[in-house]
Amino acid sequence: MSAPAGPDATRAGPTGPVAAGTADRGLRLPGIHGRRAVVTGAAGALGSAVAAQLRDAGARVGGIVRPGSGRVPRDITGASADLTDEAAVGACFAMLVQSLGGPPEIVVHCAGGYAGAPLAETSLAQWRRMIEDNLTAAFLVVRAALPPMMAAGWGRIVTVGSRASLQGGEGSAAYSASKGGLLRLTESAAAEGLGRGVTVNCVLPGTIDTPSNRRAMPGAEPGSWVAPEAIAGVCLFLCSDAAAVISGAAVPVYGRS
Ligand SMILES: NC(=O)c1ccc[n+]([C@@H]2O[C@H](COP(=O)([O-])OP(=O)(O)OC[C@H]3O[C@@H](n4cnc5c(N)ncnc54)[C@H](OP(=O)(O)O)[C@@H]3O)[C@@H](O)[C@H]2O)c1
Repeated sequence: MSAPAGPDATRAGPTGPVAAGTADRGLRLPGIHGRRAVVTGAAGALGSAVAAQLRDAGARVGGIVRPGSGRVPRDITGASADLTDEAAVGACFAMLVQSLGGPPEIVVHCAGGYAGAPLAETSLAQWRRMIEDNLTAAFLVVRAALPPMMAAGWGRIVTVGSRASLQGGEGSAAYSASKGGLLRLTESAAAEGLGRGVTVNCVLPGTIDTPSNRRAMPGAEPGSWVAPEAIAGVCLFLCSDAAAVISGAAVPVYGRS
């Protein structure tokens, strides 16, 4: 259940290398210090940046990774679960409640994946994988997180959609459908948290400047992509007291991508 902690990674951003957890150290948004926070996909490009920034802002952070798939940044409590597995999500949240000293007050759900193919070439297995990893996982995570936040009268949930949450496109039927569904889930959770001190918002990246995108698109110009650290900063703002009046929003974080 517990996952190993790793050092902060240094990532290349559009304007040069940006060290996660150092360049952003000192970000002090009201309402985050001392909070219990959980980040999913915490070994991933965006999730590790969000986890490191929450840690640096003074939150106690638990990071969930897929079993056997990567490490969480240092000083973050690691946990592992396949987030499409209802029992595993329940056990993982129970473990983090113990480790963090109570239910999470902040959840940033970064876990997700991408697979693109023309509709006629999309297998049922690929379709189900997208729906499971991008939508079912979010359902299970938000369902676990929301009730204790509403009971406590304060909570922040940020989900990570995509530009494709708003519009489908050639070769992205399964991905767009899953990320579109994630946005509807976010809006519904936001409506349920309204008036209870709980906000639920969705950030919509275009192309993130990740090592995996650089490998997948060797001919592309990554200068127009958005650094994970920049998107993490938007997530932190949405988790802060400064964003208390924003809920049910779909926030584009496209940069110039
Ligand atoms: N990268 C982009 O350009 C881009 C653009 C738009 C939206 N997004 C969204 O932004 C989010 C973060 O992207 P990223 O680039 O940081 O991706 P990433 O580096 O691949 O990180 C995503 C993490 O989520 C994990 N994950 C996926 N399904 C899971 C499951 N069922 N249970 C547990 N963990 C699971 C992945 O584990 P595995 O590695 O084991 O699968 C991975 O560690 C994703 O939701 C993605 O769809 C990304």
